[in-house]
Amino acid sequence: EGSNGLGVNSLLKDTGLVTYDVGFVNTASCKSAVTYIDGDQGILRYRGYPIEELAQKSSFVEVCYLLIYGDLPTSDELARFEELISRHTMLHEDLRAFFNGFPRDAHPMPVLSSAVSALGTFYQDSLDPFDQEQVEISTVRLLAKLPTIAAYAYKKSVGQAFIYPDNSLNFVENFLRMTFGVPAEPYVIDPTVAKALDLLFILHADHEQNCSTSTVRLVGSAHANLFNSVSAGIHALSGPLHGGANQAVLEMLGDLQASGEDPKAFMDRVKNKEDGIRLMGFGHRVYKNYDPRAAIIKQAADEILEKMGKNDPLLDIAKQLEEIALADEYFVERRLYPNVDFYTGLIYKAMGFPPKMFTVLFAIGRLPGWIAQWREMMTDQETKIGRPRQVYVGETERHYPG
Ligand code: ACO
Repeated sequence: EGSNGLGVNSLLKDTGLVTYDVGFVNTASCKSAVTYIDGDQGILRYRGYPIEELAQKSSFVEVCYLLIYGDLPTSDELARFEELISRHTMLHEDLRAFFNGFPRDAHPMPVLSSAVSALGTFYQDSLDPFDQEQVEISTVRLLAKLPTIAAYAYKKSVGQAFIYPDNSLNFVENFLRMTFGVPAEPYVIDPTVAKALDLLFILHADHEQNCSTSTVRLVGSAHANLFNSVSAGIHALSGPLHGGANQAVLEMLGDLQASGEDPKAFMDRVKNKEDGIRLMGFGHRVYKNYDPRAAIIKQAADEILEKMGKNDPLLDIAKQLEEIALADEYFVERRLYPNVDFYTGLIYKAMGFPPKMFTVLFAIGRLPGWIAQWREMMTDQETKIGRPRQVYVGETERHYPG
């Protein structure tokens, strides 16, 4: 409150003062009670719970509930929530046909985003962002249908028949079966894979005002519905500097293996910024310390690959690159550490996902965060339409000739 009794917001109303802050490095766009990050200490908490505890004790659907509703569910609440989600996993048959319009080699991210946007045309009864009942049903529909859409995008890309959801399975098992199952053949769930995927979804579930979440909020601030806001977030996530980095990491490691280039020589090229190359999966806008998610994933990668009996030489290359980076002045000075994407691709690959699907998996994991942040914004009395200012550097007035 200002001394004149006006709220901070009123004091900051258009004063003619414009802050030039490229990439919003120092600008908070909102107040939020969803996720806490301390980038210097490497701390991440969802609704106050440390990520390490949730990774060890929770399930992804429980984390969805926590992020969206603010508290951990009781066992009854969780059972009801799981049941509700499993009842909404089917897609309208016409939406299923929608996939036929894409070329077979389409990247699944734009397919995912388009299908999420199209959901709004099929569920016109749940588009009002200020009707609580409609928000609840669109929340459940999105959570339930995104894995089905993602699996269909995958099936389309490999030219296989779609597999309908089996609602006797849990969230992750259902997704695995729809993705890798084949019609008329039983699909045996590997519990190691299911547990690992659930863990990876938990680790991706929210990360406060990152690029895609800020996109969801910005689009939603114009009172766009949840489907359209999330669809925009998926596009933002697809960029290689954001969620697309997990695919880029694996491609980078694959190229290094194929070329046989010495990792040290590659790192020299990164440091010299040759052709603008970066060590993908390294660095973070907020973490200037080890990303706590990367620490969990690095340990999980070793355990999971061993349990699955997979020995991936790319994991060795990744570890070598990390070792070089952690001892190199360039990376140390700039406080560049592995981020969440550095090791995830190796696990996804071991599970059988092609690189094109990696960012789609990130999107499924991030969905509860997008929903929680969108809902928080819609009920925040201080929310205004997002509308950054600019510093104009173009021509001064000039006149059309003649
Ligand atoms: N490899 C080499 N150098 C790097 C890297 C990297 N991965 N990341 C940053 N740097 C260097 C920059 O060249 C710059 O050096 P300079 O001061 O000599 O110019 C300095 O570190 C600061 O980099 P910025 O780009 O200003 O940092 P910013 O906070 O804007 O970028 C980002 C963060 C985009 C994540 C960056 O570190 C990056 O491009 N990383 C690789 C892509 C990646 O892994 N993205 C995933 C991020 S996590 C997520 O979205 C889930």
